[in-house]
Parts: sequence; structure tokens; C-alpha cells
Amino acid sequence: MCGIVGAVAQRDVADILVEGLKRLEYRGYDSAGVAITNNNNELLTAKRLGKVQELAQALIETPLTGGTGIAHTRWATHGAPSEVNAHPHVSNSTIAVVHNGIIENHEALRSRLQGLGYEFLSQTDTEVITHLVHHELKSSDSLLSAVQKTVKQLEGAYGTVVMDSRDKDNLIVARSGSPLVIGYGVGENFIASDIMALLPVTRKFSYLEEGDVAQISRFNVSVFDSNGKPVEREAKEANVSHDSGDKGEYRHYMLKETYEQPTAIRNTLDGRLVAGKLDINTFGEGADEIFKNVEHVQIIACGTSYHSGMVARYWLEELAGVSCNIEIASEFRYRKSFVPKNSLLVTISQSGETADTLAALRLAKEIGYQSSLVICNVPGSSLVRESDLAFMTKAGAEIGVASTKAFTTQLVGLLMMTLAIGKHHGMSDEKQAEITQSLMSLPAKLDEVLALASSIEDLAEDFADKHHALFLGRGDQYPIAMEGALKLKEISYIHAEAYAAGELKHGPLALIDAEMPVIVVAPKNDLIEKLKSNVEEVRARGGLMYVFADSDAHFASDDTMKVIDVPICDDIIAPIVYTLPLQLLSYYVAIIKGTDVDQPRNLAKSVTVE
Ligand code: F6R
Repeated sequence: MCGIVGAVAQRDVADILVEGLKRLEYRGYDSAGVAITNNNNELLTAKRLGKVQELAQALIETPLTGGTGIAHTRWATHGAPSEVNAHPHVSNSTIAVVHNGIIENHEALRSRLQGLGYEFLSQTDTEVITHLVHHELKSSDSLLSAVQKTVKQLEGAYGTVVMDSRDKDNLIVARSGSPLVIGYGVGENFIASDIMALLPVTRKFSYLEEGDVAQISRFNVSVFDSNGKPVEREAKEANVSHDSGDKGEYRHYMLKETYEQPTAIRNTLDGRLVAGKLDINTFGEGADEIFKNVEHVQIIACGTSYHSGMVARYWLEELAGVSCNIEIASEFRYRKSFVPKNSLLVTISQSGETADTLAALRLAKEIGYQSSLVICNVPGSSLVRESDLAFMTKAGAEIGVASTKAFTTQLVGLLMMTLAIGKHHGMSDEKQAEITQSLMSLPAKLDEVLALASSIEDLAEDFADKHHALFLGRGDQYPIAMEGALKLKEISYIHAEAYAAGELKHGPLALIDAEMPVIVVAPKNDLIEKLKSNVEEVRARGGLMYVFADSDAHFASDDTMKVIDVPICDDIIAPIVYTLPLQLLSYYVAIIKGTDVDQPRNLAKSVTVE
């Protein structure tokens, strides 16, 4: 979603801001803008609809010079994508504001400010912050105190940066519900919504907490909590490579990230399975005690992360013998739910900032969940900081909006969690050893799967003129079918649905004809004969099938069915293994359709508004 970058430096900051915005492009946006205070204390702005490159070009044609500036990529919520609605918003040619999140009481504030004579140029909720700061400054002794008074009047979520061209030594930033990270340089300091934006200029970061307001100048950063009390927010070196934003030899980030999965999983396993035994401390302090007392697991997540949670339910109930529920965060947070005794709340999130998942975690604490664990890929993110335990996936930065390696490393984390809980619930030593062995075999197995890429690419042609697709799976492959359908719809814009194959005859069979490709995930497991009956139901109605199966499952290609041989693997890890061919299929279909694979329309990488 929207991205923020800000800088206070001696050198000109326009290039730093634009590079920062480029590094945030993966989050999804529709317009971009920058405001800079020049040496004569004048506020200069440039905004463009479309890609950051358009803004960069505008700045080449008309450079903006100055050492203090703010920049933004906008993902429209209030008001259509347009230059007028793009940030920064300006009040009285002096106050400039960028904002992530949603100001829920913007209508009331807008009427009040209009009554005070402020004229609004945009349809955004953000513009109220701009005029409110300007108004509060009239009765304040500093920009800091004007912003502190302003945020007290805002309802909703914000990460915001305020610049006053009459005071070019400082930026004021405020966080409530939308993340902001301060970057520390030498004689210059920075602010951003994501560390990725600042990696070219610093590796030292501190995260603002909920309610914090901070003043950032070249040599100093002062942070105040929601009561206005000065507080320290520890700065740490980030362990992220500068090049994480580089596509290398690959045409798209999504393809690069698909191919990175064996390495990402190797990194996620590394040091955690010591001499064939799981190191429980990998989940955090006190994990063993918490796992010992768990009688029920409630999983909460959104989108792709929800699908990994669905697989975990099969694992937890079958392998660990512990009951498990899974729910979409946006549903859980708005209903009254029953909290079973000794329940562990598990959230799953690549970004660690998904607004609904975070709200669900906070609610869970209020309604009596004793302990919480997050499976997450971003250290220091809100979900990590607010959970009791955390399992960090080591997928590395994921730039493609469509999640690939984050998903499969989540599954690895969830299987390790199943081991850790199962150990206390009668899982035999043999079963533990079997799971550990299967996990260790995964990276090599995934390398074998990736070797299928060219045969999967050959299938993609068949989808070029299709408008719909159906994905089928049974058991722990049902969530993989759902994930396959989500990948296809988000990057190729083909409407895709997933069904548990046993549900076919309860309705979806009516859809089957030659225009509806049916993709089946069919490893040879206990359900394979049942699945074969479902395949026959499709065949009898003239459906065209694409079956991903291992050779043991004995499917054969014919006029109605194309079979793709997937390497044979242990049942336990089959959901992870069968994910990759579906990711590749979606990717190659999207290439044929000519869509924007890494930044599909209307989507954002980090969904920080509900
Ligand atoms: C789809 C995708 C999304 C995310 C969802 C939750 O490819 O990436 O469905 O999984 O928005 O995001 P996180 O995992 O960051 O909580």
C-alpha cells in the first residue's frame, strides 16, 4: 500500500527520495509525489499519476533542490487516483504532509476546517491533516507541538510525516496503526514506512511504537510517546542485504522469488533442526512451556497466509493431535467468538503489518487468549513486536505482490510448530524423526520441481483465451488448490475458483465444459482413489484437465487430460512441493496475458488499511 520516504540532510535529497519510492513500488500504488524545502525556505512539489519513473522524469526536467523533503506513493482509498489527490498535500504553501492509513473522522474535520476558512483541493482524507497542522501552529510554539495537538484529533490509522518550509531543519512524524521506521545516517536522518526504502543510505533503524510522535533533524532524533513523554526507541542494525531489491537475471521478481524457494527454505531450516532435533528456542523465550500447555490452536490470517494456516490445521490435528480452528482475520475481528481453554493464538503474516491480522491479535488478547505466536517474515514488524512468540521465516525480502517464497517458508514454520506442539501431545519419536527428515529433504525436492518449468510453460498457451478456471484438491491439497486459484486470479486476472474435489457434485459440476480448464493437484496419498472418481466426473462432462500428480498415482495423458509428473515426495511435505508448479503455471499464464506480474492491478503488498 502507500509508501513514505523522508529525509533531513545537508545534500540534496530528491534522488534519495525517488530511489526510496522505487524501492517501495512493490507495495502497490497509483501515483507518486515529492515535496522539498529549498535553501530559500520555499516549498517545491512535483506529483505524477502512474509509475515513480514518471515522477523521476519530471524531476530530471525540473529538478527540485534542497536537503529536507518528503515523498509518497499513493494507493487510492478516498478520491480517485489523480495528481490532485496524490501526496504530499500542502496548506498555505508552507505545510506539506504525506500519510499512510485512513482518517475515519475526516468528514467532520473537513467541515470544521472549511468553517475556519480552509479551502480543500483534493478528495483525500489526508488533506485534513495538512490544514489542521497549519491551524494548530497558530497557537503552538513549535511544529512538534502542533502535530501533537493534531494527532489527538485524528481517528483511524496513520503513519504521517509533516514538513514546514519555514523550519527546514526538522521533520515531524507520527505513528498510529501504520508503521514508520527511522533511519540513522551520519549528519543526516531519514524516515520511511519500510526499511527497504532506506537501504541505500543506512542500515541502522528504530521502529516507532503506537502513538509515538518524533522530531527528526540532521543530528538528532527525539521521540515522544502518546502522553508526550520523551522515550527511547532502540536503534538496531538491519540484517537485510542491499540487493534484496534487485531482480538479477530474472524477468520478474515473482519468478526470482519462485526460484529462491529452495534457498529460502534452507535458510529457514538452518540452525533450527540441530542433530535432527528441533530447537524450541527458535520460537522465543518460554515457547516450550506455552506449547506444553496448549490444548487448542486458533489460527488467524489473510489471503495466501490464510491458506498456509489451512494446511497447518490438517497437520496439527493429524500429526500433533491438537484441535485447531482457522479464520480469516477480517471475520474474526468483527464477531464474538468462543475462546477454548488453554488456546494458543497463531497469526500468520508475511509483512507483519496487515491491519486486519493485527487488529485480530489485539482483540484476541482482550478476549482471553493466554498466549500468541506469529509466523512472520519481517523482523521488528508490528505483529512480531506484539506477539509473545515469533517464528521468523527467512525468506528474504519478497517484492512481487503475489506471495511465493513467503508462503512456502510459512508452511515450513508451521510444520516446525506442529513438531514442537506434537512433542508434548504424544507424537512418537519415529514420527518426529520422519517429519524432520522430510523437512530436510525439501530444498533438494523443490529444485527437482523447478526443473519442470519449461513443461509447465508449454501448458500456459491453453489458458490464453480462457476466462475461468477451476482448481481441485482433497485433504491438505485443498488449501493448495485455493492458493493456486488465488495466484492465477491475482496475476493473470482469470477468474479462478478452488473446490474440495468432493464438493463438485454439490454444484460446481454445472460449470464444466470445454471452456473451463480444471487443474487437479493429485499426489498419491490416502485420498487418491477418491480424487480419481472426481476426475472421472469431470471427464464425463467434457472438461479439460491439467493434473499435477506423481508417477505412483498412475494418471495418463490423453485427449481430455494433460498430466504433469511431479517428483515423488513424502506425504507430509506434499502441500509445499505441489505449490511450486501452480505458482509457475500462474506466472506463465500471466506472461501470455501480458499483465503486470509484479504489481498486479488494484493490489498492494502490505495491506495496512482494513
Ligand atoms: C497474495 C498475497 C496476499 C497476502 C495477504 C496477507 O499473493 O500475498 O493474499 O497473503 O494480503 O498479507 P500478509 O501475509 O502480509 O499478512
